[in-house]
Amino acid sequence: MTSKKPGFTTRQVHSGVVPDPVTGAILTPIYQTTTYVQESVDRYLEKGYSYSRSANPTVRALENKLTDLEGGSDTICFGTGMAAINGLFLAYLNAGDHAIISEMVYGGTYRLSTKVYSRFGVDFSFVDTADAANVRKAIRKNTRLILTETPANPTLKLTDLQAVSDVAREHGILHAVDNTFLTPYYQRPLELGADMVIHSTTKYFDGHNATVGGALVVSTEEQSRAIRYIMNAAGMIMSPQVAWLTLQGCKTLSVRMDRQSANALAIARFLQTHPQVTAVNYPGLPSFPQHNLATRQASGYGAMLSFEVLGGVAAGKALMDRIRLWTLAENLGSVESLITHPVTMTHAAVEPAERQRIGLTDGLVRLSVGLEDAADLIDALRDALDNR
Ligand SMILES: Cc1ncc(COP(=O)(O)O)c(C=O)c1O
Repeated sequence: MTSKKPGFTTRQVHSGVVPDPVTGAILTPIYQTTTYVQESVDRYLEKGYSYSRSANPTVRALENKLTDLEGGSDTICFGTGMAAINGLFLAYLNAGDHAIISEMVYGGTYRLSTKVYSRFGVDFSFVDTADAANVRKAIRKNTRLILTETPANPTLKLTDLQAVSDVAREHGILHAVDNTFLTPYYQRPLELGADMVIHSTTKYFDGHNATVGGALVVSTEEQSRAIRYIMNAAGMIMSPQVAWLTLQGCKTLSVRMDRQSANALAIARFLQTHPQVTAVNYPGLPSFPQHNLATRQASGYGAMLSFEVLGGVAAGKALMDRIRLWTLAENLGSVESLITHPVTMTHAAVEPAERQRIGLTDGLVRLSVGLEDAADLIDALRDALDNR
């Protein structure tokens, strides 16, 4: 008998879940309970559960699935992606510490760092992590954490994960990677030397615009203890309903991502040829400056892209207001195609001067490509671009 590890799609369906031991229900039930009855004082925690702020069986099933898919040693789920990043900061950053963060990063991560943790004496450097040499240069004696996001929201800028992980390891600094855009189906940072992976499960794992949730996948028992301790101490839990919905979403992850990414490539190619479009950011295009890195460190290019239109901000905003089929909304990774203006929506917390410094332009339009027919999505974009 061979014991070959099953493929990703098999594991996304089966790993982490077992039939309910009481009824045989194929789906892990939503364990809607506050507390768990203990057999006796001496047998406290015999079944592994005491109180639902500490652990819940439905949430645990999702944690086990994500651990298997990312190739970690454990996963701790949180109420949102931002709660997961907050948990990471709480566990590893103390007053007087310094952290390095990708300068192109989700606006909420920037806000938490510069507007909240800065109040507690933590210092941050926002660095172009595309080049590991910049990370090396930014390291100080008190640097405790390197947080990279790749592809980055919203310009899709990439970080060379192996190179940055090597620098982090050399200096004994923890390297955590926000893998929300590609998921473990396309990119597995732990295999490239990173220590931890961050997810907003709100995005591709859920995939249906139904929940908000987050997760930290860790690679050692010590990290697991540190993060679980903070999650419980600060009460940052994911609810069992959210875990249950996310478990269902996980089962179709690879199928959705393949189809959505194929749609994204077709749309990027279309946009590149349209006379009203001045720039397209999509790692799958050979013209993308880091196309080779994208091909080397991930097995797919994902379903996020951004572009600029002739006429700048006013033209971009008018396009977003006018377009049909594409929904003007925050969020990404869902089966519904979404269109977003990062500067007023997802990245509103980033000050104009910082946006200018990092090249986040006011006219940028971000697309989260969904599961609709590519031809319909392209028709809607063409109509909106032509009828300006
Ligand atoms: C890359 C990335 N990381 C983290 C988050 C935060 O996740 P959540 O909205 O679930 O708190 C987002 C949200 O858009 C994101 O795009």
